Amino acid sequence: MRVLSGIQPSGKLHIGNYFGAMRQHLQLQADNEAFYFIADYHALTSNPQPEAIRQRTLDVAMDYMTLGLDPEKTVFWRQSDVPQVTELTWLLSCVTPMGLLQRCTSFKDKVEQGLSPNHGLFAYPVLQAADILIFDSNVVPVGQDQKQHIEVTRDIAVKFNQMYGETLVLPDEHILKSVAVVPGIDGRKMSKSYDNTIEIFESEAGIKKKVMRIKTDSTPVEAPKNPDTCNAYALLKLVASPEELAHWRKRYLEGGMGYGEVKKRVVELLQEYFRPYRQKRQDLEKDPAYIEKVLTEGARRARAVAEKTLARVREVMGLGEVRNGK
Ligand code: ADP
Ligand code: TRP
Repeated sequence: MRVLSGIQPSGKLHIGNYFGAMRQHLQLQADNEAFYFIADYHALTSNPQPEAIRQRTLDVAMDYMTLGLDPEKTVFWRQSDVPQVTELTWLLSCVTPMGLLQRCTSFKDKVEQGLSPNHGLFAYPVLQAADILIFDSNVVPVGQDQKQHIEVTRDIAVKFNQMYGETLVLPDEHILKSVAVVPGIDGRKMSKSYDNTIEIFESEAGIKKKVMRIKTDSTPVEAPKNPDTCNAYALLKLVASPEELAHWRKRYLEGGMGYGEVKKRVVELLQEYFRPYRQKRQDLEKDPAYIEKVLTEGARRARAVAEKTLARVREVMGLGEVRNGK
């Protein structure tokens, strides 16, 4: 099975990204043909500074490679090194109904937040569809928030195949249902855009400071507490063993436990989880040339696949050389 996913280089990766998406990406490498890329074309929709986009691309690449991406097995590249995807975006644009894009909630949300949208932001799902379809992807592991974009991709592929005959492979609608949305320290979804994140590789002191600040309710220490609405418990669930989790669940329900106690345990477990990787992260930071080499080689492999699909699409759409008088 071909598994594909992309992640935007919009800042350092946080534990929401890790437990929500990255961990599954890394696990799926073992039994599948994995294709993962850094979506720098998509990141341009928010007009970052050129040096920021370069640095963040490098950061995302280092995070993935530190945590177990195997560049020998997995094809790992920078989206903009495979420009064929932008040509496919145009070709797909011409079969994409405006209404399909107008219904996209991520676009509507950004407009509601007061962002004055550029055309790239509106067309973002078409570029994402091109990313997926150009590699004949079967499975696209992403968090819940990306579900609509996968549906749009399928809609575009169905429409294209109806118009031009079976050309594009439809991806499964594979959403990782087991992963809940990881809350940030203010209780909203953890997100780079809310400034409420715990970065995977921030200092251990930084992790502690942030976890201890997680928003909890004001139930008194003696009173029983609801684990299922507690932000600290939501993080505990990600890192504690099932036995330990059962123990804490009991303590919540019994009362007599302060939130400070559980937060301290979350700090320890999070620090322990990522500690074995810290040295590798530091070593990679010293060798950006190696990261660049991996991305360049990944792009070469990705381009070979992309070129073939693009040729197929161009052919059925009537582009290119005139043959046999047709
Ligand atoms: P952010 O909201 O921080 O900008 P992205 O939108 O770049 O994160 O998300 C990258 C991937 O991480 C997506 O697949 C997304 O579903 C997942 N993800 C992001 N934040 C969370 C979260 N708080 N909980 C679970 N998954 C998340
Ligand atoms: N839009 C995705 C996100 O913000 C990133 C992305 C771009 C992607 N192209 C993709 C994800 C293709 C999966 C497949 O998380």
